[in-house]
Amino acid sequence: MSELLRVEHLTKIFTSGFIGGFEIRAVDDVSFTIRKGEIVSLVGESGSGKTTTGKLILRLIQPTSGRILFEGKDILQMSKNELKKNYYRQVQAVFQDPFASFNPLHPIDRAFDLIFDSYLPDVSKGERDEMIDKALIQVGLNPDQIRGKFPHQLSGGQLQRILIARALLLKPKLLIADEAVSMLDASTRIDVLNLLGDFRDKYGTSVLFVTHDLALGYYISDTTIIMYRGTIVEMGDTEKVFHNPLHPYTQMLLESVPDLNVKWEFKGIEPEKEEGTVYSLQGCRYAPRCPKAKEICFRTRPELHEVEKNHWVACHLYGGE
Ligand SMILES: Nc1ncnc2c1ncn2[C@@H]1O[C@H](COP(=O)(O)OP(=O)(O)OP(=O)(O)O)[C@@H](O)[C@H]1O
Ligand code: SF4
Ligand SMILES: [Mg+2]
Repeated sequence: MSELLRVEHLTKIFTSGFIGGFEIRAVDDVSFTIRKGEIVSLVGESGSGKTTTGKLILRLIQPTSGRILFEGKDILQMSKNELKKNYYRQVQAVFQDPFASFNPLHPIDRAFDLIFDSYLPDVSKGERDEMIDKALIQVGLNPDQIRGKFPHQLSGGQLQRILIARALLLKPKLLIADEAVSMLDASTRIDVLNLLGDFRDKYGTSVLFVTHDLALGYYISDTTIIMYRGTIVEMGDTEKVFHNPLHPYTQMLLESVPDLNVKWEFKGIEPEKEEGTVYSLQGCRYAPRCPKAKEICFRTRPELHEVEKNHWVACHLYGGE
């Protein structure tokens, strides 16, 4: 599979606006690739930087540093016009909160019109209707119960599926799905995951599947990236990461999932440390919680290191000093 997206040393630091304020390194030197037709899950507890990574890739926010290459082209160098023509046509996203994605004053159909007007202006009204109905049916919705309705007349799960239908309408090369199935009941969720898998098989669409649910990540993805406090701690073939977890954080996460068919909910997040302390700037970010921490862990940040083929880990227990 050839490369579609490459993220290099991506960093986003949010700063509070006040004197004496602090920095939040939401994404801190993150590098990974997504190949054509690959489903990559980005997994981590709340606040680990998953959504920020997705928003950076979509250029909804500017990175502090780093590069984002799509089919070899640096999207940070693209003008608005180029982005629209060469990037957003190919890269679609579905976000966590479906209510925020719809204008409450307009019927649902308007959300589809925007896509057609922007990217498929030559499609006739009749064809549009046919494509919308087909897309809705694909995600398990009955067009008669959806079209012409206003957002408040539909459930969160229905809205989420409409957003997925809309994103897939353009047959994008990359779909960024950020907790995109969180509002669906268990069986619909599996149907939608299967739809994403079918879509990939049929059209070669790559997916960045952002989730805090390890079981969903396991179910859907070829590659898994585990994030902790803005950094990648482990990544690689999903089977390897799940069946041979190497990083103490991944091991801890997986121990709390007794059965991969059961939804994982992370419990026991320690309170956020003041950013700017020694832990956030140097050393391993997991050191304060890690039962295996050594002296070096507090001093030097571990680099990602390929321990076996397609399996990387950032931990001083493997390679390094
Ligand atoms: N606009 C912003 N201004 C300041 N801090 C922000 C902003 N957006 C995100 N952050 C901070 O960046 C960190 C990463 O947030 P992010 O939303 O990327 O996490 P997440 O992994 O998506 O979490 P969740 O699972 O809760 O969605 C958090 O500490 C968050 O508070
Ligand atoms: S680098 Fe050290 S502190 Fe970090 S996970 Fe590995 S052993 Fe634990
Ligand atoms: Mg998020």
